[in-house]
Amino acid sequence: MRIPKTFIIVGTFAGMLFVLTAANPLPKRNLQVLPDDISDSQLDSIMKQYNKALGVSCNFCHIKRSDYPDSLDYASDKDPMKTTARKMMRMTIEINQKNFMTDENKRPHELNEVTCYTCHRGEAWIESGQ
Ligand code: HEC
Ligand code: HEC
Repeated sequence: MRIPKTFIIVGTFAGMLFVLTAANPLPKRNLQVLPDDISDSQLDSIMKQYNKALGVSCNFCHIKRSDYPDSLDYASDKDPMKTTARKMMRMTIEINQKNFMTDENKRPHELNEVTCYTCHRGEAWIESGQ
């Protein structure tokens, strides 16, 4: 059987597209302060810093998943503490950007002259609602 050339070309493109999208799935993140291109490990290390700075666990700002209550729904914005944390992130970035933008190679969210720990010192003042 002869396969028309256009079929082969279209098929090859579709195959390539599938491989590309499977290898690089679009980020399904809900980031409003941090950049979307942030790596998983950078994001993870920032989140661990928050735990230390406030003396809390991840569930201080992230609600439980309804389908798997043992896991947290990190993308959800239902916990008001997450909204408060975003305000704090913007404030901290602004303090650094305005006063400590000494390294032009760094992006504002990477500056850490002033961090959450600078003020919080390992403690959260308000109790979690959960
Ligand atoms: C003090 C509050 C706070 C704590 C504690 C915290 N997070 Fe977050 N987390 C946030 C905020 C705020 C965002 C959204 C950041 C943004 O909008 O750029 C976020 C976003 C995330 C995201 C990205 C979710 C998405 O897909 O949109 C992940 C994953 C995550 N956190 C994991 C963790 C883990 C794991 C821990 C514990 C090690 C943790 N977080 C602790 C506040 C917190
Ligand atoms: C310049 C000082 C300062 C910095 C820096 C700072 N915070 Fe705060 N934060 C405060 C103060 C003060 C409060 C209490 C506000 C109140 O009582 O209404 C607070 C409250 C909070 C709360 C509400 C729970 C609580 O502890 O009262 C969260 C969550 C929080 N901060 C997260 C963060 C995170 C995450 C960072 C770093 C991205 C950060 N903060 C950086 C001063 C700071």
